[in-house]
Amino acid sequence: MNSQDILLDVRNVSQIFGGGRKQQLALEMIEQGVPRDEIQRQTGAFVAVRDASFVVHRGEFFIIMGLSGCGKSTLLRAIIRLIEPATGEIWINGRDIMKLSREEVRLLRSRETAMVFQRYGLLPHRTVMANVEFGLEVRGVPPQERRERALEVIAQVGLEGWEDHYPSSLSGGMQQRVGVARALSCDPQLLLMDEPFSGLDPLIRSRMQREFARLQEEIGHTTIMVTHDLDEALTLGDRIAIVRDGEIVQVATPNELVTNPADEYIESFVEGASPAKVLTARYIMDTDVITIQPDLTSLQPTIQRVIDERERGSFVVDESQRLVGRIWLQALKESASGASDGTHWIEKVEPAVSTSPDAPLFDVFPLVVGTRFPVAVVDSSGALVGQITKNKLLQTLMHDVDEDVDTAAPGVAAN
Ligand SMILES: Nc1ncnc2c1ncn2[C@@H]1O[C@H](COP(=O)(O)OP(=O)(O)OP(=O)(O)O)[C@@H](O)[C@H]1O
Ligand SMILES: [Mg+2]
Repeated sequence: MNSQDILLDVRNVSQIFGGGRKQQLALEMIEQGVPRDEIQRQTGAFVAVRDASFVVHRGEFFIIMGLSGCGKSTLLRAIIRLIEPATGEIWINGRDIMKLSREEVRLLRSRETAMVFQRYGLLPHRTVMANVEFGLEVRGVPPQERRERALEVIAQVGLEGWEDHYPSSLSGGMQQRVGVARALSCDPQLLLMDEPFSGLDPLIRSRMQREFARLQEEIGHTTIMVTHDLDEALTLGDRIAIVRDGEIVQVATPNELVTNPADEYIESFVEGASPAKVLTARYIMDTDVITIQPDLTSLQPTIQRVIDERERGSFVVDESQRLVGRIWLQALKESASGASDGTHWIEKVEPAVSTSPDAPLFDVFPLVVGTRFPVAVVDSSGALVGQITKNKLLQTLMHDVDEDVDTAAPGVAAN
């Protein structure tokens, strides 16, 4: 990724509550690495966010996760200066927003970003409709257009028919959905969401999560979401920042978090995660696959390899590595003996026995179980990039992933 791809760059941001005139001293103590409790004891200042640095790429779904009180909301709010950070730089689209005037920050908030607050933050004297229209109104969108857009997003969050109700007559989960609709209505470049799904019952929750994943893919906006729900983080997040006591401990993809946790704390955090939901085909596939060209030249060495490696046969690929089919060992042998022309034994590989590198293992199980041949892993251009065997899958299921997974995957560091 080059710097063009970076939408948000947070550098050494700290946030301190209390401490009065001793705040400066507290900041110096942060730099010296003094523990939070000690800083509080000596200065009375509470370090809510400690020297946080991370980047978020355009189009990314970035998650901030951690236990209650660890500083997630504070960090999220600091990004658009709803809470003024005590120190640090925050670059959005190449501008250090710490240097913007009040008015410029107001414009940034209303034009480029949208926020879903943890406690809804709805305007009590406005109806659902008027709440959702609010952001568009601030941007000066004409009434008719505003209304149409509002109706669209109200439907997306499943609140049709509630347009004329006031927030006080809605349940918590419904109010939360109004908050989400209001944020979505503005098509923000950067969407900040503080536990937007936490008050929802499971069915609506997973429906909204799915809808969100779809929207993100379709519109390509950038989302930073706070959650304390591991499953939610692993399902939705491209990368996840884990926060403990105000500090970012690790920033990593779901795969990396589960297979290569930075320390014991993270390990205990992700312990409950099901590898089947998190790991993708890419992480367990063998890339050294036996293949042969469609004209079945070099039959003998291929047969030998199939026998040596106790495989079922060979995949057939064209010269650009695109998957053409598969051929069983028996057919290869017959072809080599000259008994018949083997090319008509090449079987087409149906979608039922192939998968994409990004498919979660959860979706790969039934394929592997359903065939004696290894499952082909095929990328979006149709090229064969690997295979998954029953053995490999079983090893993974038995948590034997560490030595098989490429731990050199990039991006484990906090940037
Ligand atoms: N305005 C404030 N003044 C003093 N302390 C505050 C203030 N806001 C937050 N804190 C403290 O900072 C810490 C982090 O709070 P924050 O709301 O960011 O946590 P959180 O991770 O979002 O928690 P939760 O998951 O419960 O929402 C907490 O200990 C909180 O008590
Ligand atoms: Mg919070």
